[in-house]
Amino acid sequence: MLLKRICWVFTLLIAATASLHAGPTKEAGKELFIANCASCHNKNMKDDLTGPALAGTEERWSAFPRKDLYAWIRNSQALIATGHPRANEPGENGSRR
Ligand code: HEC
Repeated sequence: MLLKRICWVFTLLIAATASLHAGPTKEAGKELFIANCASCHNKNMKDDLTGPALAGTEERWSAFPRKDLYAWIRNSQALIATGHPRANEPGENGSRR
């Protein structure tokens, strides 16, 4: 009984380790960012470009469910139209963010 349980734990551990290795890498993320995001978001994460600086995004949205942040990224105007308080809050420089 105990042996069976130990085998089960090992199977889970091995599966978890394997999936970690197959998961996304920092390099892949960097390439994705440069190809899809860097045209509007500064890669120093601190200064605004067309899009806002991305540093601190999770803290700024921490009072709301993660799905709200995703909705904001996908279509900010649609979230603003719902009257969402965070989406309608002006940024420190008067921009919407
Ligand atoms: C065409 C320009 C453009 C591209 C490309 C772009 N964004 Fe944005 N992004 C924006 C703008 C503009 C906003 C602010 C939305 C607003 O104020 O209505 C924004 C907002 C965000 C926010 C929310 C920041 C905050 O503090 O609320 C995140 C996170 C974000 N983008 C991530 C990304 C990621 C990741 C990519 C690439 C996969 C990406 N964006 C590609 C223009 C862009």
